Amino acid sequence: MTTRQEDFEAIKTALRQQTRLSAVDAVVAEGDSMALLRLLPAHSVSLILTDPPYHSTKKQNIYGDTAFAEDQHYIEWMEEYSSEWRRVLKPNGSLFCFCASSMSARLDVMLSKQFNVLSHVVWTKPNDPGFDGWKGKMKKEALRQWYSHSERILFAEPAVDGNLFRSPFAELLRDCRRQAGLSMHELTAVIGAHGRVNHGGAVSNWEAGRNTPSREQYEKMRAAIVATGKVKSMPLYEDAIRVFSMDASKEFTDVWTFPSVRPYKGKHPAEKPAVMLEHAIEATTYPGDVVLDCFAGSGSTALAALKLGRRTVAMEIEHKWVSVVADRVQTVSEADGATDQLDTELLPTSPSKRKVPQLPLFEFAGK
Ligand SMILES: C[S@@+](CC[C@H](N)C(=O)[O-])C[C@H]1O[C@@H](n2cnc3c(N)ncnc32)[C@H](O)[C@@H]1O
Repeated sequence: MTTRQEDFEAIKTALRQQTRLSAVDAVVAEGDSMALLRLLPAHSVSLILTDPPYHSTKKQNIYGDTAFAEDQHYIEWMEEYSSEWRRVLKPNGSLFCFCASSMSARLDVMLSKQFNVLSHVVWTKPNDPGFDGWKGKMKKEALRQWYSHSERILFAEPAVDGNLFRSPFAELLRDCRRQAGLSMHELTAVIGAHGRVNHGGAVSNWEAGRNTPSREQYEKMRAAIVATGKVKSMPLYEDAIRVFSMDASKEFTDVWTFPSVRPYKGKHPAEKPAVMLEHAIEATTYPGDVVLDCFAGSGSTALAALKLGRRTVAMEIEHKWVSVVADRVQTVSEADGATDQLDTELLPTSPSKRKVPQLPLFEFAGK
């Protein structure tokens, strides 16, 4: 199993020719992110937090927003991303994909081929009068449907076939346990979880993907499985189970209330609020994890990730926005003393269209 540091170095190497800026914890790459994504190593990213063109909003000032004549073409384009996201994400990674409410259901159906869509987060913006778009100004009597006052953020995890909840962790546990020659009951007994959970014990629930063990329970199972001598190693808890760090002091529901970014000179037309991105990153990653944004815009995801001590990969197609992202990341990196080779030479993007091989999800010695 590779470390985060090794994953990040491999990403840097893969994107070298398209890199505008490389710092200790950040890479800013210029080009079509579909081509850039195809260069990335499999299972190298912990979180994809990304905000593609919405298509239905048809904004002339956002690259790609008017690129598709039909909704289905947009979904097909997004499906190519879905495949690459699935490939580059770690099996215990997470995906946030921003979208318009009018597209979210169709995106859910498409994403569900390769992901478990866990939440449709509703982002609602309590903006002050004058900064609330058309909400205050428009004639309410002219409405023909409910005024759209929210955006959606689809939250998902990679899916695998073969267990009830299509859980990658469930597959790992089942494979390791079988390789170790232990029954579900034997493993349940090892961790002392008998009686607390029904029938086949806690392990059968975990192998169905119904729920997940605590860190302590996982470590006990890991030790028991490795102690059989039939499995040499199992991933650490941090590499096996998707992180979701939440408590009552945070916004724990799927309705997120964050004011949008007030207009300012040079603002990206779709800039997302930093606090909202930090909220998403903090809940779903560990410090040091690699956070990828394929549609970086102003670089808000990259900055939020750096602020929280995560590594970040930002991809953007528009030259002027790449410059903005690079400048912002450079400023933060210099302030942190985290620069390595700033301003590398930018070469033309010409990656080949590789066929994506089907890869094993988790690696564990002995398989
Ligand atoms: C909705 S905006 C993202 C805004 C960003 N979340 C922010 O806070 O500033 C989408 C961005 O994706 C970029 N984009 C569109 N198509 C792209 C592609 N194929 N590859 C990379 N970037 C692309 C656009 O130029 C735009 O800046």
